[in-house]
Amino acid sequence: MKVAVVFDTPNDGWDDDDFKREVAAEVEEPEYEVAEALMAKGHTVLLVGVHDDLTHLIERVQQFEPDLVFNCAEGFHGDSRLDYVFPAVLEAEGLRYTGTAPIGLLTSRNKGMSKKLLSYHGVRVPGFVTYRLTDRLTSPPELQFPLFVKPLQEDASAGIAMASVVHDFDHLKERVAHIHESFGQPAIAEEFIEGRELYVSVIGNRPNLETLPIVEMVFDKDRTSPHERIATKSAKWDVPYRERKGIRNVFARPIAQVAAEQIDTLCHLAYRALWLRDYARLDVRLTSDNQVWVIEANANPFISFGHDMANAAEKTGMDYYAFIERLVTIATERYALEA
Ligand SMILES: Nc1ncnc2c1ncn2[C@@H]1O[C@H](COP(=O)(O)OP(=O)(O)OP(=O)(O)O)[C@@H](O)[C@H]1O
Ligand SMILES: [Mg+2]
Repeated sequence: MKVAVVFDTPNDGWDDDDFKREVAAEVEEPEYEVAEALMAKGHTVLLVGVHDDLTHLIERVQQFEPDLVFNCAEGFHGDSRLDYVFPAVLEAEGLRYTGTAPIGLLTSRNKGMSKKLLSYHGVRVPGFVTYRLTDRLTSPPELQFPLFVKPLQEDASAGIAMASVVHDFDHLKERVAHIHESFGQPAIAEEFIEGRELYVSVIGNRPNLETLPIVEMVFDKDRTSPHERIATKSAKWDVPYRERKGIRNVFARPIAQVAAEQIDTLCHLAYRALWLRDYARLDVRLTSDNQVWVIEANANPFISFGHDMANAAEKTGMDYYAFIERLVTIATERYALEA
């Protein structure tokens, strides 16, 4: 097949040749790894990196006449909230592409809107309140403290630290002000869910949804309290910090059968409720009495080699190339069914 790999890039003026050089040099970027996998599987690949000019995307891709576009864009203008722009353009151009459409990207990015949709569909989500930039906090919300305060529309644990857990109204006000100032966007305060931290990757489209082996973030039990057992920015990305704190991402420790079935059912339900497509990752918390809570959905999850989702695929016997090929097949079959 002819597959165009599209992505956002800081490298202004680079073309397919420049990007192919990076692929050959095995530079660690998801778009390069995806391109390498596609080429290894025999596809004809064009890499289209967009710095700040969307007409470049349209011109290059249309000229190439791909059978499919592999969307690797994580944002636009360095803003992850604008990740929906790429699929919106592809949609407008009548192109076939992998992954979730703008509606699903927009609703799941907004951690308040997605929770409303999920609770309508009977998926258990923490109680929450949102604070827009102009809102005044005059009285405590009718929620059970401690609360967990985060930016409404970020990802990769931006703005998430130990101080995100607040035990009283004064600290809530402080943390909300901090989010408003640092991120220039609304804040969401959610009831704190104490439990195991699970990442559930789902691939496919109904009726062929598949849950990949669940990944768990584990913490050194002796050294942390429940409020410290959270996936802060450091817990996710700072390798020395992870080592110091005994934090690791492993395949989930044993999960009771009843909970495992619930996770599967609820994640598939959430996938449909949020209009997720082809592949996504759901962040779930599992309490000690086996209640399953969906914390958030990632409509455009990280699919880099050696990271949670690719590792989960590998566990089922798909190496990285096979995993990427599988996503191509899933998207192609979806379009065939829609035709
Ligand atoms: N209501 C909550 N109760 C307990 N822990 C929470 C809650 N909300 C968030 N957390 C903790 O903070 C982490 C990050 O939250 P969340 O997944 O909403 O942020 P994100 O930045 O979108 O993450 P991602 O890297 O998945 O994009 C969660 O994985 C969990 O450990
Ligand atoms: Mg998350």
